[in-house]
Amino acid sequence: MPNLATGERVVVTRDAAGTRDLASRLATSARPGDLLCLVGDLGAGKTQFAKGFAVGLGIQDVVSSPTFVLMSEYEGRLPMFHLDLYRLADGADALAGGLLDDRQIEGVALVEWAERLGDALPAARLDVLIDGVGDEQRRITLRACSPDYARYLEALA
Ligand SMILES: Nc1ncnc2c1ncn2[C@@H]1O[C@H](COP(=O)(O)OP(=O)(O)O)[C@@H](O)[C@H]1O
Ligand SMILES: [Mg+2]
Repeated sequence: MPNLATGERVVVTRDAAGTRDLASRLATSARPGDLLCLVGDLGAGKTQFAKGFAVGLGIQDVVSSPTFVLMSEYEGRLPMFHLDLYRLADGADALAGGLLDDRQIEGVALVEWAERLGDALPAARLDVLIDGVGDEQRRITLRACSPDYARYLEALA
């Protein structure tokens, strides 16, 4: 992932509930227009993170994997846009196809497999790098890629 970090925090979670709880706490820092990139292998817990984030935004609907629809939208304290670029051949297509569009300045976008955007990845974002699969613990690195996103890290302290 490109861009210099302006702050980083590592959190270890031992189960899916731990990851959801972390995400739920982070959601209290969300502001309109925010972009969170969820990066990790298949089964790392990106969708679990999105589920927890939704809880933190007060979203009542059940959040499921958007792999086949590319983007789902939920209404909470802020709208949440949940994207999954796994099936995307080319990052530029996502932008051309309006996957990341002006509507999202109203809410917070969580993007699984965001690294597929390559050079099209916006510089201002919070990276959530999830390391570990299966029964392993997850090492979750939260990386503020611009100073504005440091508020997510500060809120955890
Ligand atoms: N610490 C953990 N954090 C997140 N998920 C975990 C953890 N430990 C086990 N799991 C399990 O790993 C799986 C993660 O699935 P999912 O969130 O769909 O992954 P992804 O969206 O990254 O492909 C779930 O079955 C979940 O129960
Ligand atoms: Mg997923």
